[in-house]
Amino acid sequence: MKIVESIAGLRDVVRLKRRSGARIGFVPTMGYLHAGHLSLVSASRSAADYTIASIYVNPTQFALGEDLSRYPRDPGGDRAKLEAAGCDLLYMPAQEEIYPEGYGTFVDVEGVTARYEGAFRPDHFRGVATIVAKLFMIVAPEVAVFGQKDAQQVAVVRRMIADLHFDIELLVCPTMRDPDGLAMSSRNVYLSANEREEALSISRGLRAAKNAIESGASIQDAENMLRRAISPAFAVDYADIINAATFQPAVSLNDPLLAVFAGRIGSTRLIDNMPVGAGR
Ligand code: PAF
Repeated sequence: MKIVESIAGLRDVVRLKRRSGARIGFVPTMGYLHAGHLSLVSASRSAADYTIASIYVNPTQFALGEDLSRYPRDPGGDRAKLEAAGCDLLYMPAQEEIYPEGYGTFVDVEGVTARYEGAFRPDHFRGVATIVAKLFMIVAPEVAVFGQKDAQQVAVVRRMIADLHFDIELLVCPTMRDPDGLAMSSRNVYLSANEREEALSISRGLRAAKNAIESGASIQDAENMLRRAISPAFAVDYADIINAATFQPAVSLNDPLLAVFAGRIGSTRLIDNMPVGAGR
């Protein structure tokens, strides 16, 4: 696996690959990779001829007081995992090339960012859309692969691809879960054993909501089941059934429904979601 740190170096490789007719697949990450990330690499390898993964902990998507400084990092382990997963190139951008002195351009996606993560982390999606747009401009892939775990991020990237005319196919891979149901996340490493146990109530709640909708319950009843299932150890930001296309509250069982959760346990904020009913 090639490792490249400069924009010019990356563009040279991409130019050569494209000249030989290769379709480029791209998996952007912030590192500390787990099986969920590796499933994205595998999806890219199936959809493209040459897979590029990036590792970059993007400062503009963290608010002051969030976990930027302690975000888990394991560059050596990540390299080995990507290599074993068959990734062709790892792009590790240099901070000074991505946000040079005087940097002043940002991408704001409206609408799908109004609620949920967008409301609880006000500048988060501005940072995400900005870095993803920059990476798309640098890598210029034919296919980009994201995980359903960050469902609202997927909606933001989908909107941005359409609005900014990126000629990129968006592939979305299902959330990978540990055998006990906990959604895989780099942030799970922050959890104590007891917090991890309480966190299992998230997937139990999402599944209860899904089963309720599929057995004919109303949106309100399913939402109540979800909220009741969540451990009181959580300070809940939201536990709702929403419209997965608009990221607004669901109004009809015919909407593409998504059960979503975000909350804090101890010093760790977790998010998860599950497509339900027509949204399955
Ligand atoms: O999902 C992530 O890991 C990040 O938000 C992304 C897409 C790599 C942008 O920094």
